[in-house]
Amino acid sequence: MTDPSFATRLIRWQKQHGRHHLPWQVRNPYNVWLSEIMLQQTQVATVLDYYPRFTARFPTVADLAAAEQDEVLGLWAGLGYYSRARNLHKAARQVVETFGGVFPCEREGLEKLCGVGRSTAAAIAAFAFHKREAILDGNVKRVLCRVFALDGDAADKKFEKQLWALAESLLPENGGDMPAYTQGLMDLGATVCKRSKPLCGSCPMTDICQAKARNRTAELPRKKNVPEVRTLPLFWLVLCRSDGAVWLEKRPSEGIWGGLYCVPCFDSLGGLNDAAAHFGIFSDGLEEQPALTHRLTHRLLLITPFAASANKSPPKHLSDGLWVEKQNLANYGLPKPLHDFLHGRISAA
Ligand code: ADE
Repeated sequence: MTDPSFATRLIRWQKQHGRHHLPWQVRNPYNVWLSEIMLQQTQVATVLDYYPRFTARFPTVADLAAAEQDEVLGLWAGLGYYSRARNLHKAARQVVETFGGVFPCEREGLEKLCGVGRSTAAAIAAFAFHKREAILDGNVKRVLCRVFALDGDAADKKFEKQLWALAESLLPENGGDMPAYTQGLMDLGATVCKRSKPLCGSCPMTDICQAKARNRTAELPRKKNVPEVRTLPLFWLVLCRSDGAVWLEKRPSEGIWGGLYCVPCFDSLGGLNDAAAHFGIFSDGLEEQPALTHRLTHRLLLITPFAASANKSPPKHLSDGLWVEKQNLANYGLPKPLHDFLHGRISAA
């Protein structure tokens, strides 16, 4: 008997040991697309919390397209990487306006949607339309580099091309097997072929794994050069009205927390003091709060909030914002550290 292929091993293993009954394991391309965008940089456990709220509010792509951006960002707040939410909303409008409300069924068409790259398009095509398309995310690269003992540099375009070609060569013949195969790759990478302490004893590839045979599992895939994490100081001006309302501004769509609502934010204490003076608040009216830290992918934010009482709105040309009462804060997409800071103040009050 011939040795079972990579695809056969993976499909059998997925059916027995993989993840089933995830709420997005359906054939509806809207649900598959939404979940794949959420899962791009976020753990399954977190997505399990956000996904049902999203689909309850926006059951179809038309509902999402018809929403205001603020509401979409409000439901996304806390998931991070907010360009995903802005692109999601744009893509829903593309589906409605350009594709007549129907998702393209080919990988090439799906790649035209904002925020959908080759691997995400392939996952949607495989899950929703049973297309023989290869995915290649970080987890899949790790599996392939180990099983085939590939020692390339992840930043090298030629190596990347080689990985795509390998991923395509391994696909099962039958399109009907694509959901189990694709989910199997994701499940294997996430639960067995982990970056550290892989569970080789539970792996369906253990007897064909070249990294294991050569005792190279720990060193493959080759480590990337990680850029150093720079600290970015930020200063928040937390203006509070006597009824507890807070002054919030919508952030520009580019840059950190794009499109979310935040208190006036400055990159220097001088900038904060100047703005506060324009609002009629001087240093004796500013109360420094304990600093907070918040980690982004390549930066560590060191945030110092300054609280001040204000009974009139800052002039429109200096701060285009609005007063938001405590009970309405949940309707606004706030950066995670601001959400936590304001909720700490509310519960401490
Ligand atoms: N990561 C990316 N897509 C996924 C999926 N469909 N299921 C589990 N984890 C994933």
